[in-house]
Amino acid sequence: KFHGEADTDFILPPNKEWAKNIRAKWMKKVSDEVSVAPIVVGGEAILDREVKTAIDKSQLKEGVVCGKYALATKEDLERAVEIAAKDVDGWRSLSASERQKILGQVANKMRAKRGDLIGVAAAEVGKVFFETDVEVSEAIDFLEFYGHSARYFDDFKNLTCKGKGVGVVTPPWNFPIAIPVGGISAALAAGNCVIIKPASSAVLCAYELCQCFWEAGISKNTLQFVPCAGSLAGEHLVKNEKVDFVILTGGEETAYAMLKSRPNLFLSAETGGKDATIVTAMSDREQAIKNVIHSAFSNSGQKCSATSLLVLEEEVYNDPHFKKGLIDAAQSLHVGSVWDFTNRLGTLANPVDGALKQALESLEEGESWALAPSYADENEYMLKPSIKWGVKERSFCHHTELFGPVLSVMCAKDLKHAIEIVNATGYGLTSGIESLDEREVAYWRKHLKAGNLYINRGTTGAIVERQPFGGLGKSAVGSGRKAGIHNYITQFMNIEEVAEPL
Ligand code: SER
Repeated sequence: KFHGEADTDFILPPNKEWAKNIRAKWMKKVSDEVSVAPIVVGGEAILDREVKTAIDKSQLKEGVVCGKYALATKEDLERAVEIAAKDVDGWRSLSASERQKILGQVANKMRAKRGDLIGVAAAEVGKVFFETDVEVSEAIDFLEFYGHSARYFDDFKNLTCKGKGVGVVTPPWNFPIAIPVGGISAALAAGNCVIIKPASSAVLCAYELCQCFWEAGISKNTLQFVPCAGSLAGEHLVKNEKVDFVILTGGEETAYAMLKSRPNLFLSAETGGKDATIVTAMSDREQAIKNVIHSAFSNSGQKCSATSLLVLEEEVYNDPHFKKGLIDAAQSLHVGSVWDFTNRLGTLANPVDGALKQALESLEEGESWALAPSYADENEYMLKPSIKWGVKERSFCHHTELFGPVLSVMCAKDLKHAIEIVNATGYGLTSGIESLDEREVAYWRKHLKAGNLYINRGTTGAIVERQPFGGLGKSAVGSGRKAGIHNYITQFMNIEEVAEPL
C-alpha cells in the first residue's frame, strides 16, 4: 500500500538544529568552490560548453552566485535523443517491479538529501524551507506512487504495457523539486528513457535531484540532463520525431507553440490557472481568511494553484471585520531571508516583470489597494503580500495569471454570480469555496468548472493519490491527464491486448 511521506516539523528542537545546518552546509559548499553543473548526454558529464551563472537569491549581493551550469548545443540535444531512442541500457526491458525497486531507491536518496534539496532551492529559487520541505515529500510520493502504478498495470495478464520510448520533461521553476520528479518518475515508471530540460531559473535544483536518480542506479543514458534555451529545445527536442511525448508544466503559449511546431506531438501539459476562492455569507469567516491567506501568498503566490481571485458574496464584501481580518493576516506574514525559517515568504525567483508588474503599478476603475504593494529589500525581490480591492469583471486582474503575492478581491451579488465570475476566466485548475451550507456547496460543485475543487480548504498543495492534480480549459493544453493518479502513467505507455481463441 502507498503511504504519503511525512513533512518535517520545524517546531521540534532537533529539526530546528537540522534546519540550521542546511544553511551552514550550503554556505560551506559555495564558499569552497562554485561548481559547474555539466550537461549529461550519452552517459557522460560534459563541461566544455558555454557556461551560465545562477544568481544566489538568498543573498542578492552583487557578484554572489550560487552555481554555474553548462548549456547544451543543438548537437548535444540531437545526440541525447538518439541515445534515448536506442535505449542503450535496456531500461525498457526491465520489468515493472524492477523499475519500481529502483525508483524506491531514488526515493531513499531524496530522503537522505532532503536538506541539500532545501538548500539549493533556497539559494537558486529563493524558496523558504518549509515550502521546499513539502515539495521533497511530494517528490518522494511521486517516486513511490508511480512505481506502484506500473506494478498495478502488470497485473492485467492479457495486457502488455510498454514504454512509448523517449520522453522529454520540461518543468517550471516554481516547484523546482516536486514537478520535475513527478514528470521524470512517471515517464521512467512507464518504461521510457527521459531527457530533462530544466527551467532556466532552477537548473541547479534539477541537477541536484538528477544526481539522486543516477546515484540510485538509473544510468546517465536513461536519464539525460540538458539545460538549454527554450527555443533550442523547441527546435531540437520537441520537433524531433523520435521524441514520443513531452511533459510540460508552463505557459499556455509555450504549449500551443509546441503543438503548432509539431501537430502530431503527444503533449501532456499543465498550463497555469487564475484560481479563485468564493466566500459566501454562510462561511466560517475566520477559517476562510486562514485558508485564503495561505493559498494566495505561500511561495509568494508563485503557484499555478494559488488563490489569485477572492470572490466575496456582497455581505462578506461589505463586512469591515472580514476586510480588516484579511489585511491583518496578510500583514502578519514575515517576508525576508529564506535562511531564517520564521519567514513565510522569501525572495521572488525572478525580477518583477510582465503581468505582475502591470498589476502592481496600475489601478483600474473602481480598484483600490486594501494593502498596497511594498518590498522588504532594496533589490525589490522580497515582495510583501498586497490586496487589491474592488476588482471588476473583465478587468486585467480578473483574467490574468499574475504569479506573485497579489490577491484581487471581487464582489458578487450571490453565489450564482460568483461562479459566473470564476468560470469567466477561462482557466480551470483549482477552485475553492468557503461555505458551511451543503446546498451552496452542491450548487457550486455542479456549476464551477475546474479540475481541483476544494471545499473549506486552501486551493494549493494537492496530495498524491488523494487529490489528483490537473485542470480544464486554458489550464490544460494537449492530451494530458491529471497527475498523482494511477492512470497518469498509462499515457506514456503503449498498451497491447493479447487475445487467443476462447
Ligand atoms: N500541485 C501543486 C499544488 O497543488 C501545484 O503544482 O499546489
